[in-house]
Amino acid sequence: MGERGFLVILLPLLAALLLQFSGHSSAGHLHPLIIVPGAASSRIDARLTDAYHSSSACGGICSASLPAVWFRLWWNKTLVREPLLRCFGDLIQLHYDAASDDYRNTAGVETAAPFFGSVEGFRHRDPDAPEEDWPMATLLQRLEAAGYRDGVDLFGAPYDFRYGLAAGGHPSPVGSRLLQDLKGLIERGSAAAGGKPAVVVAHSMGNLFVLRLLARSSPSWRRRFVKHFISIAAPWGGAVAEMYTAATGDVSAGLQPVRLQVGSFESNSWLLPSSKAFGSRPLVVTTRRSYTSADMPEFLSAAGFPDAAKTYGSRVLPLVEKLPPPGVPVTFVSGTGVATPELLVYGDGFAQFPEIVYGDGDGTVNMESLLAAAVEWSGLPEQPLKVVKIANATHVSVLIAEETWREITEQVAAVEVPSKRGKTAEDSEQLSSLSF
Ligand SMILES: *[C@@H]1O[C@H](CO)[C@@H](O)[C@H](O)[C@H]1NC(C)=O
Ligand SMILES: *[C@@H]1O[C@H](CO)[C@@H](O)[C@H](O)[C@H]1NC(C)=O
Repeated sequence: MGERGFLVILLPLLAALLLQFSGHSSAGHLHPLIIVPGAASSRIDARLTDAYHSSSACGGICSASLPAVWFRLWWNKTLVREPLLRCFGDLIQLHYDAASDDYRNTAGVETAAPFFGSVEGFRHRDPDAPEEDWPMATLLQRLEAAGYRDGVDLFGAPYDFRYGLAAGGHPSPVGSRLLQDLKGLIERGSAAAGGKPAVVVAHSMGNLFVLRLLARSSPSWRRRFVKHFISIAAPWGGAVAEMYTAATGDVSAGLQPVRLQVGSFESNSWLLPSSKAFGSRPLVVTTRRSYTSADMPEFLSAAGFPDAAKTYGSRVLPLVEKLPPPGVPVTFVSGTGVATPELLVYGDGFAQFPEIVYGDGDGTVNMESLLAAAVEWSGLPEQPLKVVKIANATHVSVLIAEETWREITEQVAAVEVPSKRGKTAEDSEQLSSLSF
């Protein structure tokens, strides 16, 4: 019997062994998966303290209607309806504090994104809506049906998506803490899988956090702990849709009456179109002027966000101008061919709905933005990357596209050739010594 014949017998045996093993412990043969969701995906809980005073907008209804215990603030359909909608706006709002150069909650509102480490923090966006309305829930179900177990070899990084990161020299304690926690979670996931490096899967804004973590980690840390970065629907260069939400409001979610409150999130500025993806073409036009990616402060000011207008240049711009390579193999997965806002034509100011000119993208993020990192890193010898474009997949439905599933399963099950990797001084480098 030749070598070939031997393999013909051996391979099915090995496969049978693996399958049998998987029935008992999936941690044995699969790479651990770390999932980082996008903006507005994680649950946020809140609790009011004595320091909370209902703003006049709420007419005192807030303190009177809300329990003095932790309750679900996002997403909570009771709160985003009258008579509590304005109250919700007051609770969810962020405030820029010039003295500390940082954002904070409304005074007297404590918040937390629960279940860090588990996928429970983003399994259900709206607990009252059917699961099939939320593709993330379907993706998690499929992973669990394939043998993954939450907290064993499947880990989640829910986070308070209202906060972002700021450029070096500017504090952003909430976002920086997320990076620390995510780093620890990746290490923990790898340890739980007997030292196998993790596959990190990020959706939408989650990608922006993952990139900063990877780009600032040492090469030896990345090699040891991260096998692959699957980047789904990443808004690398922002989105024109974000300008619509800022100027007009989140109409589809019914949040238009609290546009200024929801628009106060620190992370919103991070998602505005950048010159990397949009160059100098007009993105928003009014009868008075037009706004390109270079005019974000003026746009924010005109849309009613004077604090964001002030901080954009110092806290946000240096961050979005750079797309440092993550230093681990990346697969970009995104939808394409879905009508996506690329130019908003308003009248005199932003009071009326704009006329929307559509271009290519995933319905939310423009194609130039989805591809911005691939364009930036292609040709870098140390940066392996693959681009998967899925026709007609939207920003959220891409999570359950067959092609996406194929990329994920290929990465988690791929057999790694074991290599000798000793612990080096670099591995214990502290993330806290870096600024983002
Ligand atoms: C929504 O918020 C209210 C507080 O007004 C709370 O009583 C309720 O339990 C929350 N809903 C969910 C699903 O947690
Ligand atoms: C995408 O949608 C268009 C328009 O509905 C349709 O003509 C096309 O066949 C679709 N493509 C795929 C690959 O599903």
